Order: sequence, then structure tokens, then C-alpha cells
Amino acid sequence: MLYYILGILAVVVVHLITYLKCYENGIKVNWLHMWMSAGFSCYMVYIVEYLHNNVIENGIGLAKLAVMFIPAGLFMPIIYKRFKYFLMNILYVLCVGGLIGVLQYINCHKFNPLNIVFELFGVLIGYIFTMIVNEISPEFRKRCVIKKRKKQIRYLSFEAETLALLVFILFFAGAMVERISGRDIEKQKGAVVYEHEDEYKDIYYADKDKYDRYDAYAKLHPDMKLEDVVWRVDANLDQEFYDEAYTTMADANTKSPLLINKFNRVSEDYEPEKLVSIEGDYVATPETTTAYHELINDLEDLGMKIYVVSSYRSVEYQRNLHNYYLKSDTPEEVDTYSSRAGYSEHHTGRALDISQVRGNLNAFEGSDEAAWVYENAYKYGFIVRYMDNEIDVTGYIFEPWHITYVGKEIAQTMHDEGITTLEEYVVKYVDHKKP
Ligand code: DAL
Ligand code: ZN
Repeated sequence: MLYYILGILAVVVVHLITYLKCYENGIKVNWLHMWMSAGFSCYMVYIVEYLHNNVIENGIGLAKLAVMFIPAGLFMPIIYKRFKYFLMNILYVLCVGGLIGVLQYINCHKFNPLNIVFELFGVLIGYIFTMIVNEISPEFRKRCVIKKRKKQIRYLSFEAETLALLVFILFFAGAMVERISGRDIEKQKGAVVYEHEDEYKDIYYADKDKYDRYDAYAKLHPDMKLEDVVWRVDANLDQEFYDEAYTTMADANTKSPLLINKFNRVSEDYEPEKLVSIEGDYVATPETTTAYHELINDLEDLGMKIYVVSSYRSVEYQRNLHNYYLKSDTPEEVDTYSSRAGYSEHHTGRALDISQVRGNLNAFEGSDEAAWVYENAYKYGFIVRYMDNEIDVTGYIFEPWHITYVGKEIAQTMHDEGITTLEEYVVKYVDHKKP
């Protein structure tokens, strides 16, 4: 594309310079010829670009090639009359045709002489067509004929056309050097064939620039459905947790959901806009608090009771906690149950650890309260954030006690769609819009 733009610009500039020279020398310029000549040059640039791309992708059909060269033939009689450089125009076509052949040979290791034959055939059709139009429309022919001019015109036109030819050759040479030097041209031209490309096209949350990553992840997980491969890669799960190159700083003003995980962190000085007491000294955002009170009211109506064991934590608090665990467990072990500072959902004021036994999270799993929370939390806008068997997605072992406020609408959608992690929800409903 870049070559294409540069080529057209160069052609336009060359023709403008010629026009100005004619103007300065007091030579009358026939605008029809001027535009025709510039149009022809632009068309040649286009054809070089198009063929260059398609030769790389393994050649184009012969019929198509012939059709593409018809305009060359159409222009030829006109340009011939204007500049009297019939041979020069033939040379254009042969140059392009020859270079296509060379390029095809370099890229595809084959040379099809029929390419040249069909190219010339296309030129011939166009040429004959214009000649016929010339015969049946004398007015058109008159416009194409140039009255005798001073000698300089030839010189000026020769100069312009030679420069235009040089542009083509440089343009083509550049494209070839790029090709031969092995720059990532297939990628630029979309010539790389991805194993499941057609399937990705049908997945609305598949990003074109990640096809190679999807393929690689699918290869590593041959039994995984492609739909799952795609959202997991979109969530960066093909990368190492905490890889800084894939880590995003969460926007503190994001309403809901606020995705915090091992690729999405908060800043060192992050603090929720507002925190209110949720239970005793524990604080959380006002929305979380209201929703939680609704939840425990209904729970208590059924004769059950739960307590908050942990809620909002500052980054500093999390750092101390994480370091404390490191005294007894290895860093790898700690990473499976405790977030590094800045990466904990507790920073958001929207996450709560709960249990029916004060201060004892381990007592929660298996209790009636836990069973009720699993089944009903979504109705209040909460999700159980670290589900069993989701460690490859969340990075954490099962935490039945850790619930996160995401709002009723999102919790309902996740419940209805069977989406068990916020990572999957964000890819499918926030980062990409469902069609
Ligand atoms: N226990 C959760 C993962 C945290 O540390 O935020
Ligand atoms: Zn927690």
C-alpha cells in the first residue's frame, strides 16, 4: 500500500512539473492528454501493486490478467498520439510484464510465459477498442490529435515519461528488495495461511492480529473448542501470568465490571472513589455494601448467617499479607492463593471474603450457607470469582468464600450463559460487542 501511494504521488508530481514547464515556456497544454497520461501512469502503478501482491500469493488467473491489461491498450493510441512515443508505451507494458515474470519466479519458483501472452492479449483488446471508438467518433479523434508543436514539447514529454518509467522501476525494485530481504511481507499482505482462519472469522470476539496466537494455543490444547481457545488467548492466557508486556493498568473510574487479575492491576496509589462500612470495621464500595446487605437479609430470613472476613485492602496491606505468606510457602505456592500487591480484587472494594464462621474461611465450603450463596449470589449482583478447576484462567485455586460484586445485569448474563469467569465475560461482552 505504501508503494502504491508513493508511486501515485510520484507520478502526479512528475506530471505537474511537466505541466509547469510547458506553462513557463508558453506551450499550450491539452488537458485531456495531460490527464490521460497521468491516469495511465497511475493505472500502471496500480497494476504493479496489484500483481505484486497476487504473484506473492501464487499468481492470478490468466483471464483476469488479460482484463487487467485492457486499460493499457485503451490508453495506448491516445498516449501515442500525444507524445509520439509508441515504443516507450510498449516498453512500459513489457517492463511490467517482465518484472511480474521475475517476481513470480522468485516467489513461486515457476515462470508461466502465458502470463506475458495474456497480458499482451489484454493490451490488444484495449487498443482495438480505442481504435474503433476513434473511427466511429471523429470528435473524440480530433481531441486526441495534437497539432504540430515546437521541438521542446518532445523534450519535455520525453523527460516526464522517462521519469515516470523510472518511478515504476524503482517502485518494483523496492518491492522486490523487500521481498528478497525476507521482511515480514506475507504478514503485511495477509498471505499467511492460518490453520483455523475460516473458523476464527465466524467467532465475533476473534481478533485478526491474534490468529497466530490462536493457532499456537489450539495446538497446545487440541481438545479445546476453538471458541474457548479464542477467548482465552484474548484474555492473554497463552502468556505467563504477570508478564509486564501484557499487563494493563485498570482505570479506577471504570464502573462495572472492573477486571483485576494477573494481567490487570491497579496503580500503587489506587483507592476506590468511596468506601463505606459493610460490617463493623470492614469497608467496601456503596454498591457492594447495598447488594451485600440485601443478600444477607434474605439469607438470614432462611435462618442462616454469614460474616465478612475480608473486604477492601490497600495495595500496601496486600504487600504485607503476601510477604507474610512467603515466610512459610514458596513464591509459586503463594501465587496460587494470594495476589501480588496491586493485583488483588480486594483493592477495588468490590470483593468480599465471607464465611458462616467468623474469621474462618476454610469452614465455608460444604456449609448450607455456601450452597445457598453459589445458587443465589448472582441475583444480588455477585459472582463466586475463583471457581473450582479454573486455575488456568484465574490463576488461583478454588476460593468458595471470595465473592465479587459485578452488578445484577452482568451476574445475570454470566449465570444465564454459563460463564464462570470474569475473564471470559469481559472478552465476550466488554472488549467485543456481541453482534
Ligand atoms: N486471595 C485472593 C486471590 C487475593 O489475594 O486477592
Ligand atoms: Zn478474597
